[in-house]
Amino acid sequence: MKIGVLTSGGDAPGMNAAIRAVVRTALRRGWSVAGVRNGFAGLIGGSFVSLGARDVGGIVERGGTFLGSARCPEFREEEGRVRALRHLRQDGIAGLVVIGGNGSQTGSHALCQMGFPVVGVASTIDNDLCGSDVTIGVDTALNIAIEAIDRLKVTASSHERAFLVEVMGRDCGYLALMAALAGGAEAVVLPEIDVEPDVIAADLRASYERGKAHAIVVVAEGARYDGEALVRYFREHKGRLGFEPRLTVLGHVQRGGRPGASDRLLATRLGAAAVEQLARGGHGVLVGTIDNRIQATPLGEVVAGKKTIDRDLLDLARTLAQ
Ligand code: F6P
Repeated sequence: MKIGVLTSGGDAPGMNAAIRAVVRTALRRGWSVAGVRNGFAGLIGGSFVSLGARDVGGIVERGGTFLGSARCPEFREEEGRVRALRHLRQDGIAGLVVIGGNGSQTGSHALCQMGFPVVGVASTIDNDLCGSDVTIGVDTALNIAIEAIDRLKVTASSHERAFLVEVMGRDCGYLALMAALAGGAEAVVLPEIDVEPDVIAADLRASYERGKAHAIVVVAEGARYDGEALVRYFREHKGRLGFEPRLTVLGHVQRGGRPGASDRLLATRLGAAAVEQLARGGHGVLVGTIDNRIQATPLGEVVAGKKTIDRDLLDLARTLAQ
């Protein structure tokens, strides 16, 4: 049997470890593996490369994805998917592992509905994918964010300044909330919970009045008031804050890290589990971990679901910001 493997959407630290696990678990079963270049774009273009055990050597510690990744609007169209199916069949590929996040697993689901066996592997720094408590890449991205926050706190304390730190996450506030908790931020702004800039200003002023030498606000990029909007608001309403904040947008820096141990282990377990799923004929599912156990969730459920923010953790972040 021959299977394909691809990485799609925004890259995430640990994707390489997942590819390696897919390839070596499949080889162990006597299967062969085709790597697909640049996500679904490579499926549409028939860009395949044969992967042996040595081809995936020395990549477990590397960030990004050596197969390349892409966002592929053509795959949302039926015409693109039909071309992809033609290439898969011409190449004798009987099953596909898709390593990626929400948009990618929507593509997996569409391909499954056309009768092709696909297993998804939960991978995105946003952690917005149902079917896995945590996704590949989140932990490394979070560590990068808190390292930045630690550094900003040092300079913020020296100057008695407030810093807004904008983190990624698209429409999901998971990274922001966890970074605020782990980084000891004074305030956090999430897409899921609307907060007015005046409330943040009041929190910051109160923290200075309590004798703090710095103030850190973690802002999710998807919040109604993102980092830039907040800075603009505070500039236009100078009196409300009492001082001028500085903004640091972490952006893609969060995605480019070397995967930490948690992401390597998660990716390794999920990559191997995806192959086992295909071997059992269990396609049309996403493999992820729930309560630290590997679980397979139907792709239909995954793409229809929406993760919610943990309100208790938000309350805890607020309590600890005193
Ligand atoms: O989905 C991962 C992610 O990094 C999001 O956090 C972010 O909004 C988006 O990708 C950025 O996309 P791009 O790399 O295409 O600019």
